[in-house]
Amino acid sequence: MDEEQRAIAREIAYKYLKAGDPLSWFEDLYSRAGDDTSIIPWADLTPNPNLIEWLEWNECAGPGKALKVGCGLGDDSEELTRRGFETTAFDISASAIGWCRRRYPQSSVSYVVEDLFSASTEWKAGFQFVLESYTLQVLPPNIRADAVRCIARFVAPGGTLLVVARGREPSEPEGKMPWPLTKGELSLFKAEGLKEVSFEDYMDSEDPPVHRFRATYRRE
Ligand SMILES: C[S@@+](CC[C@H](N)C(=O)[O-])C[C@H]1O[C@@H](n2cnc3c(N)ncnc32)[C@H](O)[C@@H]1O
Repeated sequence: MDEEQRAIAREIAYKYLKAGDPLSWFEDLYSRAGDDTSIIPWADLTPNPNLIEWLEWNECAGPGKALKVGCGLGDDSEELTRRGFETTAFDISASAIGWCRRRYPQSSVSYVVEDLFSASTEWKAGFQFVLESYTLQVLPPNIRADAVRCIARFVAPGGTLLVVARGREPSEPEGKMPWPLTKGELSLFKAEGLKEVSFEDYMDSEDPPVHRFRATYRRE
């Protein structure tokens, strides 16, 4: 993520956060961007390498229903479909979803505008594979536990949830958006009835490397 893009995104985010509105800045950012991906700090235009690596190490390739939380520009959702999942991908930003549809006009991914916090009850326990990558870390701490609860609900019995996020030790400062998460915050998934299958704490291969957590949960 380029520092200049990140500074612009932060400025917009903090303006909304100060006004007590933690969710509207995403649409503001995407709509300002038009079709210029350089404005979106997380738009790598390629599937997340932490996801690819995990998929290659884990036998979790479809068929089955997959859900991508906060899908951004759709790269991860397209990758899941390519690997055999019947994928639904949602984002709170209508502009982001419109962008996905323009990028992938032939896609079989179902791209939906939806707010995680009020997502369709039809999605409850509806997915064999749920992917949350980088959404929790752009939500402020006071709504993260609620977000965890909402994400956990999507996982079907026998289904898997993969979470990829920036990580920090509790002794480290909270930092700025995107806020690194603590292991304690991710452990809330266990309180939501999911079993932790694996928890990786590592430096990724970005330059400079980023401290990541990659956790896998299962609903038994
Ligand atoms: C940091 S971006 C990551 C996007 C994508 N996962 C990626 O890695 O490129 C977080 C995404 O979550 C979306 N988002 C934030 N809050 C949301 C909410 N409450 N419901 C649905 N999507 C949300 C944002 O619009 C944004 O596209």
